[in-house]
Amino acid sequence: MAGRLASLLAGGTASAARKTLDGVYAHTPPGVIKFNDVVIASGEGCWLTTTDGRKLLDMASGIGAVSTGHCHPAVVAAVQAQAARVVHAQQNVVGAHTAMVDLFDRLSGVLPSSLDQYFLANSGAEAVDNAVKIAKAATGRPNVIAFEGGFHGRTLGAMALTSSKTIYRQGFGPTMAGVHIAPYPYCLHCKAQAARGHAGYPTVTGERRCAEISCCGGPLDSLEWMLATQSAPSDTAAIILEPILGEGGFVAPPPGFLAGLRRLCDKHGILLIADEVQTGAGRTGLWWGHQHWLPDPSSASSPSSSAPANGGGPDLLVFAKGIASGYPLAGVATRRELVPAERMPPGTLGGTYGGNAVACAAAAATIDVINNERLTDNAQERGQQLREGLVKLASELPPGLIADVRGRGLMVGVEFGGVTDGGSAAPRFATPKKGVAYAVTKASAARDMLLLTAGARESVRFLPPLTITAAEVDIALGVFGEAVREVAAKQ
Ligand SMILES: Cc1ncc(COP(=O)(O)O)c(C=O)c1O
Repeated sequence: MAGRLASLLAGGTASAARKTLDGVYAHTPPGVIKFNDVVIASGEGCWLTTTDGRKLLDMASGIGAVSTGHCHPAVVAAVQAQAARVVHAQQNVVGAHTAMVDLFDRLSGVLPSSLDQYFLANSGAEAVDNAVKIAKAATGRPNVIAFEGGFHGRTLGAMALTSSKTIYRQGFGPTMAGVHIAPYPYCLHCKAQAARGHAGYPTVTGERRCAEISCCGGPLDSLEWMLATQSAPSDTAAIILEPILGEGGFVAPPPGFLAGLRRLCDKHGILLIADEVQTGAGRTGLWWGHQHWLPDPSSASSPSSSAPANGGGPDLLVFAKGIASGYPLAGVATRRELVPAERMPPGTLGGTYGGNAVACAAAAATIDVINNERLTDNAQERGQQLREGLVKLASELPPGLIADVRGRGLMVGVEFGGVTDGGSAAPRFATPKKGVAYAVTKASAARDMLLLTAGARESVRFLPPLTITAAEVDIALGVFGEAVREVAAKQ
């Protein structure tokens, strides 16, 4: 079989690629969704090349993992050198390997200074599971609260915290006990905002920006109510949130929400877990997404001696994806007092491949590239260019077709609004036709650009490599505009 696939790949034509895929799909459970029927031969920067010679602009970057672009030379060199030195010096069998030493050094430079304990794993979901285990052991409490629309992974533990779509749980229940799901401040669909006629909500034409809207307070009230009626504070180990909903639709919280959440956690002795798997590693224009709303003690000019141990930030931070440019490395960062040997004795945390030497080398090189090439600045600048271009596009389309343009840095989401059967646009907050977002991603792919949908509503997400250039953003905007117009014309 391997030989047959290899010879078909070598053929390099569209029909050879089709046959190759048929061969692969024959062995792939249908549950593994495939959005684009292409076979990738190579990648460079923001571009992937297929076996039949197509060049695809990658605005998905492996769901946000390929932060430094495909095959960044510095990451390739670090990986090649490490692969020739030692690949696997297992983290429990030996004390460390040099790639881990380098990575810990780099992590201490980019993580909030209060989070100085690092547990390394392989995937975001595995790291989320371990963050929850740490929170339970540290507090001696059984329950966890997560948010509506959150995505935390596909393991049995992380799946129970996930509510961005039912498909992630369908047929796999019952889910882990002790999980409660709280409302998230999704302002575009907030009933309080609707009752005010969405007066405070930013319009897509840009005269009011997200930063100006303040939370109606409903979600924090609901959390307090949940603690009064469903999960007593003394039973609640942690609240886990993505600083910006990722898979749930790239929804950023309104100002005040995260600060209110931090205060609520402090009041009840509940740990705050920031799932930065998608928002971390520079994606939002800062090293970590939560830093847009919660102060970072390590960057404070004069840290106060009365500052809380958590420094006003999360108690646990989960990282993965962009931290290693596509290599499988994830982790949990926390404080020493939350992982004491009395509660988590040697053996309670581990895993065969966690802290794999090649993955560590990729992560250390990635952190250097993000810092040396100022990719957080690029994420801010190119993200702004992208959002402004999308806002302009929205203003050229029938009003309401693009209901929302949102996000931070290079985590940019577009939500579609209602379109009438006659093809004209319905009022902005009307329900769009099901499948519009997916159709736009297919129309983009037909024009050689990879794009992803997000969440249970009609949204698409742009999350290109952080190295994307201004010219590439312009190409993406042009392709997206054509794709949206084509889909709208067929509505
Ligand atoms: C916020 C968040 N948490 C956790 C995960 C799970 O990560 P992984 O797919 O590496 O298990 C994801 C993946 O998309 C994610 O976006």
